[in-house]
Amino acid sequence: MFPITRPRRLRQTPQLRRMVCETVLTVNDLIYPLFAVPGEGIAQEVKSMPGVYQLSVDKIVEEAKEVYDLGIPAIILFGIPENKDADATGAWHDCGIVQKTATAVKEAVPDLIVIADTCLCEYTDHGHCGYLQTGDLLGRVLNDPTLELLKKTAISQAKAGADIIAPSGMMDGFVRAIREALDEAGFQDTPILSYAAKYASAYYGPFRDAAESAPQFGDRRTYQMDPGNAREALKEVELDIAEGADMLMVKPALAYMDIIWRVKEITNLPVAAYNVSGEYSMIKAAALNGWIDEKKVTLETLTSLKRSGADLILTYHAKDAVRWLQQE
Ligand code: PBG
Ligand code: ZN
Repeated sequence: MFPITRPRRLRQTPQLRRMVCETVLTVNDLIYPLFAVPGEGIAQEVKSMPGVYQLSVDKIVEEAKEVYDLGIPAIILFGIPENKDADATGAWHDCGIVQKTATAVKEAVPDLIVIADTCLCEYTDHGHCGYLQTGDLLGRVLNDPTLELLKKTAISQAKAGADIIAPSGMMDGFVRAIREALDEAGFQDTPILSYAAKYASAYYGPFRDAAESAPQFGDRRTYQMDPGNAREALKEVELDIAEGADMLMVKPALAYMDIIWRVKEITNLPVAAYNVSGEYSMIKAAALNGWIDEKKVTLETLTSLKRSGADLILTYHAKDAVRWLQQE
């Protein structure tokens, strides 16, 4: 009578497999990142990210319509400003690139959720995520002065129409600071999606081409997390929950699926995973060489991120994934 238990019984037909499938990726799980640049009629492909473009506001509006028509619930906006300076003026100015884009998208596609990434690295002349004392040769990012700039940034993004604020700079007290600032400015209903556990990762390389945000010296290891640390991620998550985050993000995703899982275990808040640029580019590069099946590998990757605990997935594959899901 060996074996009594035969797991293959439930794998015999597509219908049986469908009945017992535990994780189903849907369009509702996806968030699509977009890069806004000044100008008009611009669609400049990012060299290290085939299929991803820097887009001027008019082109982003077109893209937003397409994303909405595909049923993707949300986009997240990054901006490449006209000028970069020590005070990251482009981040918090009411006429900043993300502010202009958010307003234009909300006007054209009111039901598409616009998430604003809140950080300074795209807007500082040195490319760090925070404020540096001028003349500080050690290039130390000052936490609390940075928070003042980030508060202004979050408020101006909300004023411009951003539906969700996504603090990504890994400054201490970030969530609390912008929660209070948003509340005082009348945006108590604007949710915060916190990049709670964000690692100092080489997987961000292609993004820094796309956002033109590579640090001009040093690296981000004094504010982003050490890849070897897991319990520290839980500490960051606990702090962000206490500070008032509405949703929590783990970033990157693939090399950090254990973190996604552990975060999911300790919170009832929605958990997002950022399937970052380097993860996207690796699949694209292999697919363009004919080495892997892009559709199958992408859908398997995204489904696995959901299985690991991600309720939401920020991914450059979003539009392709939805088209492939529609074919299934
Ligand atoms: C910056 C930021 C980064 C990403 C999103 N916001 C990277 C960085 O720290 O340079 C990375 C996203 C990606 O790689 O796709 N605060
Ligand atoms: Zn940053």
